[in-house]
Amino acid sequence: MPDSPITVDVRLPSDWAAGEMRDDIRRSFANRPIVLPPKWLYDDYGSDLFDQITRLPQYYPTEAERSILVSRADEIAAVTGADTIIELGSGTSDKTRTLLDGFHRGGQLRRFTPLDVSEATLVEAATTLAERYDGLEVHALVGDFTRHLAHLPDGDRRMVAFLGGTVGNFYVEERHAFLGALSDQLRPGEWLLLGVDLVKDFQRILAAYHDVAGLTARFIKNSLTVLNRNLDADFDLGAFDYVPLWDDLEERVDMRLRSLMPQRVRIDGLDLDVALGEGEELRVEISAKFRPEKFTAELSDVGLDVFRLWTDENEDFGLVLARRVTEQA
Ligand code: SAH
Ligand code: TRP
Repeated sequence: MPDSPITVDVRLPSDWAAGEMRDDIRRSFANRPIVLPPKWLYDDYGSDLFDQITRLPQYYPTEAERSILVSRADEIAAVTGADTIIELGSGTSDKTRTLLDGFHRGGQLRRFTPLDVSEATLVEAATTLAERYDGLEVHALVGDFTRHLAHLPDGDRRMVAFLGGTVGNFYVEERHAFLGALSDQLRPGEWLLLGVDLVKDFQRILAAYHDVAGLTARFIKNSLTVLNRNLDADFDLGAFDYVPLWDDLEERVDMRLRSLMPQRVRIDGLDLDVALGEGEELRVEISAKFRPEKFTAELSDVGLDVFRLWTDENEDFGLVLARRVTEQA
């Protein structure tokens, strides 16, 4: 039994997966090219696959970000003086322990709020953390960070962490809207800690999204399993190839599923038949890579002032500490 209090608030309605997904997916299949919303990748199986991906040697972002957290956690705690840490898209909160250790050493760790759509992973992480830090109040939120930012807990000195380069999984307009909404939730002087993967040799980037063992392919194809289950669809996973592409103009990885043959897919839950041509692609997810100056400007546009941007020794990954400005221009 954990020694510390845990509360779990579920902001997602019980029919969330079926209800909201129905509207989202109907819209996706009404357009060409077909673009699937990425949040549906992370059911329990998807979260587990992602966790395995983070341990692949060629998936460099996790260890690069961890190394920055190891060397900067104490400094982040001291600079921000925060006592309430909120983590968006927290997943297993594995690297977050390194961060929280810094706040714990500083004697200032009071409350931790992880927020994620994946309930089982979230509850497991919350339990592990409550056991690790005696007296830590863990207040987990099962929610969607594109919709439930208004439910973030209050606190005197808050820092929001958004790690793992997840901010790169938004399309650019959505990213701007998300960062604006997040900034609006912060009071002047409150902090945001963001992990961003940096632009580098595209071969290394692509290798991180394409393992021979096929884990990444399984992760991306799991989006079809989620549709099969929640919308009574009959996608045949074997009828698609996983294709990761580097888009040099947008500086992002584009993860697609390519139809191997002309095929017809039935989505009973939408009462919809979808015809896919041979070679036609479903766009499942992107992972944008960042340039420090450009990203600093993007944050500044929404009232967030970059205080520091640290990188790992190879300059693969960036950790940005930003502060909500007093007056928004
Ligand atoms: N922070 C972890 C996990 C990153 S993977 C790390 O750095 O390794 C992205 C996480 O965001 C997953 O746990 C996924 O379930 C969660 N996620 C994706 N879309 C979400 C959304 N719209 N709202 C809340 N959580 C989301
Ligand atoms: N935020 C991670 C990233 O962009 C998560 C991710 C999304 C991912 N799609 C992926 C990781 C595919 C590995 C493979 O890297």
